[in-house]
Amino acid sequence: MTATQVQVRAPGKINLALHVGPPRPDGYHPLATLFQAVSLYEDVLARPSDEITLELRGRGTDLPTDAGNLAVRAAALLRETGGVDRGVHLTITKQVPVAGGMAGGSADAAATLLACDQLWGTGLSREELAELAAELGADVPFALTGMSAMGVGRGDLVTPVMSRGTYHWVLAVQGEGLSTPHVFKTFDELEGYTVPSAAAPGSDHAAPDGAGPRVDPGLLAALLSADPLVLAKHLTNDLQDAALDLRPELGDVLAAADRAGALAAVVSGSGPTVAALALDAPHAASVADVMRAAEVAAEVLTVTGPVPGARVLEHVHGR
Ligand code: C5P
Repeated sequence: MTATQVQVRAPGKINLALHVGPPRPDGYHPLATLFQAVSLYEDVLARPSDEITLELRGRGTDLPTDAGNLAVRAAALLRETGGVDRGVHLTITKQVPVAGGMAGGSADAAATLLACDQLWGTGLSREELAELAAELGADVPFALTGMSAMGVGRGDLVTPVMSRGTYHWVLAVQGEGLSTPHVFKTFDELEGYTVPSAAAPGSDHAAPDGAGPRVDPGLLAALLSADPLVLAKHLTNDLQDAALDLRPELGDVLAAADRAGALAAVVSGSGPTVAALALDAPHAASVADVMRAAEVAAEVLTVTGPVPGARVLEHVHGR
């Protein structure tokens, strides 16, 4: 029995903490981050086709629909790995801001891997899918995992962490995104870092155990407290100054979140989306109203986290 269509949903993320080390010879930066998946979703519908084709709905209808799109690359990688001779028509409905520091493109890729795996019956394990995910991009494995998780290496080595309760966030979304490589480059400039040359074979591999940035154990304890007042003390992002350098108006967004009574606010990932933490749903609604009135963002949304990673919503079988 073959599937005639598969629908998969994958979440966007925010980084509760993001610690970044100096660049490695391959240009990537060692990270220690705490991801939380939030209730802003990418929906991928996969239907049989001879070729790999893509159609975009919602946000990002001006994004590429060829191999310049990570979802198309995800389908092609799975097709090659699984020895599949069929194609897929993908319809992606995007809610996650484009180039917003919330890994929307990575969520598309993760959802596409899962949808095509089901459609084509390649039957890869979650671990095998996670390996393909890491090949596609540093944030793709987390979009499969979801909930709350620690990311190390390039951010692609993901370990789920325990979290209690639901957190209420206000997201200030900007009309124009930021390029992740550009933010990392600015980070290097601000820190005075240069990319080292690959001196010895293997020197482009991850730092040995014990080296590199770390997540504060206090943050892990905070996530167990289910208390947003405790979590608020631990929001931090090493890329924030670089994002502010490229987009000084983000200072107004952070100030507006503070004035609106948010418990704390932080730039998510490489930005420019700002995530502001609220006490509960009514508080989030009120912070969002005040931030909207401040006119510092193209859109102000309320979301909750953590939520699950990529999952199949609908799987229709043919005969
Ligand atoms: O892996 P991904 O394609 O999502 O990364 C996009 C870019 O972000 C990389 O090309 C690199 O410039 C930067 N990056 C980095 N260090 C990381 C993750 C991403 O420098 N750990």
